Amino acid sequence: MRKKIVAGNWKMYTTTSAARQLAREVVAGVGNEQGVQVIVCPPFPYLGVVGEALQGSRVALGAQNAYCVREGAFTGEVSPAMLADVGCHYVILGHSERRHQLGESDELINKKVKLALDCGLKVILCVGETLQERESKQTSQVVERHLTTGIAGVAPAALAKVILAYEPVWAIGTGHTATPAQAQEVHAFLRSKVAALWSADGAAQMPILYGGSVKPANAAEIFQQPDVDGGLIGGASLKAADFLPIVQAGIG
Ligand code: PGA
Repeated sequence: MRKKIVAGNWKMYTTTSAARQLAREVVAGVGNEQGVQVIVCPPFPYLGVVGEALQGSRVALGAQNAYCVREGAFTGEVSPAMLADVGCHYVILGHSERRHQLGESDELINKKVKLALDCGLKVILCVGETLQERESKQTSQVVERHLTTGIAGVAPAALAKVILAYEPVWAIGTGHTATPAQAQEVHAFLRSKVAALWSADGAAQMPILYGGSVKPANAAEIFQQPDVDGGLIGGASLKAADFLPIVQAGIG
């Protein structure tokens, strides 16, 4: 039985005081709940203040990106070793905003995935097609490529630390959520591919989150799909009043 995961991707929003306040509200709302793993991923400058607010709670800290080299002369980049050092347990990699707006390649994302796992982080690997790709019936091909290239060369033991997030690009921040059936179809496909690439047991254990305009009103229906193991939440993770009902939907 896979435990549901609800992760908040705060993207490039917040301030010190708002980050502290939101983290405290999430901690208070989650309390001692063990039926769902809650993760919050603030921007880099707020990892410290949010990490402090999460201390002693069941809410885990994650980052939104990391570089593919452990240390060195890479001005402006952040190593996954540093993220682990400041208390992160998770890192989001391959988000569509990084693939499409920052030009990250499959190859770069693969390097990042391997190093982040080596540094002891759990990786939330995002995969997903654009509207044009969906309309030209390339969804399976695209998500398979993101998956296969993303985890290429990762040892089976480390694959247990990978969480997939299916995030159709056309659903991110647009208010157009995939229907539960559309999400389930892609999640089941991804799970079958993980089984082929790794093992049936591994695939049965791997969490596959859905992301793209998840809101309190649609979370329960999406999370009830057999291959949907929770969500990666953008806009609705910025207010506790929106995020906590989604966490609640993860408890079922
Ligand atoms: P959204 O973003 O919930 O605002 O659509 C999801 C994501 O990009 O992870």
